[in-house]
Amino acid sequence: MKIFLDTADLAEIRRAAEAGLIDGITTNPSLLAKAAGGEGDPRDILAEICRAVDGPISAEVVATDTAEMVREGRKLAEIADNVVVKVPLVEAGLRACRQFRSEGIKVNVTLCFSPTQALLAAKAGATYISPFVGRLDDIGSGGMELIAQIVQIYENYDFTTEVLVASVRSPQHVADAALLGADVATIPPKVLYQLLQHPLTDRGLDAFLSDWAKLPESQRAI
Ligand code: E4P
Repeated sequence: MKIFLDTADLAEIRRAAEAGLIDGITTNPSLLAKAAGGEGDPRDILAEICRAVDGPISAEVVATDTAEMVREGRKLAEIADNVVVKVPLVEAGLRACRQFRSEGIKVNVTLCFSPTQALLAAKAGATYISPFVGRLDDIGSGGMELIAQIVQIYENYDFTTEVLVASVRSPQHVADAALLGADVATIPPKVLYQLLQHPLTDRGLDAFLSDWAKLPESQRAI
């Protein structure tokens, strides 16, 4: 399963990319607005992200009608070859998705909350579908059940649209996504580093190092 980082924070992106932990980035208007902080240019931030990560970078349109979405998406796609245009899962977004795909532009259809929405996105040729598991859990509706349903539907009909698990809140979401065979999970930086942690790893490492430190200094160098 590919791991994308769900952020527009360049310091976090560089740290994770240099560690080789990520395969791509997802942004959204909220994340980019936060990174721009009211003064930076969001397009410059996107260009910098595209240089920092050798993988797909999702950049979302903010228009609500198809013609404007297409205009914005084309501009976003011009920023770099690795831009994936993100559109919301509404009729105008699916129309724009078809247009982008006919032009060879990759599309991430976002804000997916039901299996039928995912079916329509795949039929519109989406490169990625982004079901939001955390926001479904928040309203007491099983987010991971939706992933299982979409994976099954896409398998039934050999759709090539990749299932990109979004709105991830915990390492358990990531493990469940991988067990269900999702193609990608997009993860906030905090959760990415939680994936690495285990108390037995820390305890074991402490014990190894303290046993080694008991050797005379002349024997410790490797
Ligand atoms: C996905 O692309 C979205 O940016 C993101 O996963 C939304 O997550 P949230 O529900 O934590 O805002």
